[in-house]
Amino acid sequence: MVSRIIPVEAFDLIIFGGTGDLARRKILPALFKRFCAGQMPSPSRVIGVARGDLGDAGYRDEVRAALKEHLDVPGDDSAISAFLQQIHYVRVDVLGEDGWQELADMLEPGRIRAFYLSVGPSLFGDIARRLQAAGLADSESRIVVEKPFGHDLDSARALNRELAGYFDEGQIYRIDHYLGKETVQNLMAVRFGNMLFEPLWNAQYVDHIQITVAETVGVGGRGAYYDRAGAMRDMMQNHLMQLLCLIAMEPPAKFDPDAVRDEKLKVIRALEPVQPHHIIRGQYTAADGVKSYREDVGNDRSKTESFIAIKTHVSNWRWAGTPFYLRTGKRLKARDSQITVVFKDAPHSIFGPDSGRHNNELTIQLQPDEGITLDVTIKEPGPGGMRLIDVPLDMSFAEALGPEADAPDAYERLIMDVIRGNQTLFMRNDEVEAAWAWTDPIIKGWEARGDVPKPYDSFTNGPDDASLLIRRDGREWRSIGQ
Ligand code: BG6
Repeated sequence: MVSRIIPVEAFDLIIFGGTGDLARRKILPALFKRFCAGQMPSPSRVIGVARGDLGDAGYRDEVRAALKEHLDVPGDDSAISAFLQQIHYVRVDVLGEDGWQELADMLEPGRIRAFYLSVGPSLFGDIARRLQAAGLADSESRIVVEKPFGHDLDSARALNRELAGYFDEGQIYRIDHYLGKETVQNLMAVRFGNMLFEPLWNAQYVDHIQITVAETVGVGGRGAYYDRAGAMRDMMQNHLMQLLCLIAMEPPAKFDPDAVRDEKLKVIRALEPVQPHHIIRGQYTAADGVKSYREDVGNDRSKTESFIAIKTHVSNWRWAGTPFYLRTGKRLKARDSQITVVFKDAPHSIFGPDSGRHNNELTIQLQPDEGITLDVTIKEPGPGGMRLIDVPLDMSFAEALGPEADAPDAYERLIMDVIRGNQTLFMRNDEVEAAWAWTDPIIKGWEARGDVPKPYDSFTNGPDDASLLIRRDGREWRSIGQ
């Protein structure tokens, strides 16, 4: 198999927050990798925008340092030096008048322009307004915004209204980087590219679905943001919600942006309100060498959750009665993101009561070690009767595809989609609002009850109550990290 690079037109990518953490960790390394793959044709430029007085040379030094620090395999110095020739810098005061004219003078008329707002959401509106006022936003311009997209439904609506004042919806790219992950897209390929699964993909054959996104990291240096967000706003409302949509949605007629997003929206709108006893919130405690959540965020009375587990339902014909169990948390046992579709038992066992209960499970492993496993029931080898066991039909992408499995990072794909003008993997305004409309009452509920998250030991499965949530229904979570 030969890797195919789809050429893109020359572009100017302008990064507001060009010296910030996300630019250093994700955006610039992703661009460098695309440059090495030949996808940043020579007149293309990356223009960093920030408040400091760096100049091109100073910014290039910063970019070089960021690449060396954050690339898994840093490119050799000559590749980095060649990349840096396409990097520029403009000092702009995003809340004042300084720098906008210089930025305008730099941009090449007629070339694709993408303004990447890698800044806090409180600045989105101001920057969009000033881009318009400076005459920088033409019909070929795109604006890219990072999460968090709002804090609740009202703030998300306000942001959408603000952006809509200056850009058409078709120019706005709301990033949820989970949608750029290779295996997340594979979910659609597996569902809609095979005949095998779709006939069984419904309440009649599926017992339940589990989605787990477990991390070992704590909140790191992001305590101030995280303590206002918590796992619900930071992960559940966006990343897990998107995974749920891709698992539960109806087949879109085409793989095009609105067809896909229409179907995802219907799923979010069909989500039932979550009962208070179907929500478990947790907060990690200190362990050997790591601080507790409250120490990490510097708030010894914090009631913010670093773990959340939820049981919910999608109320439509396909999924009526099928529970969806979702959980995510920090400082868990392992970094492990997986979706498991657990099929029902066969309706009748011809092998008698001693053969035990068996069912099929399809697990989509998102990270690490992307792959797909289908558990099937077979006869235990050997003489002595018909004993059944479950064995995995295991497809690790790394083994099956070799170097082809080396997928680009989510940001590489998403940035190139912005340049190509493909919005399929970005969230639409109504989708984000619907996700908040489902999330808001859940958060308001626990705030009204004065709910305090349950402490859990770091590097475990989270609070014991999360196990009870699913065990009460006679089910078990798939283990984290195996
Ligand atoms: C981000 C969250 O959106 O996703 C972080 O803000 C989280 O808290 C991160 O750690 C997880 O992303 P990934 O790609 O490492 O699974």
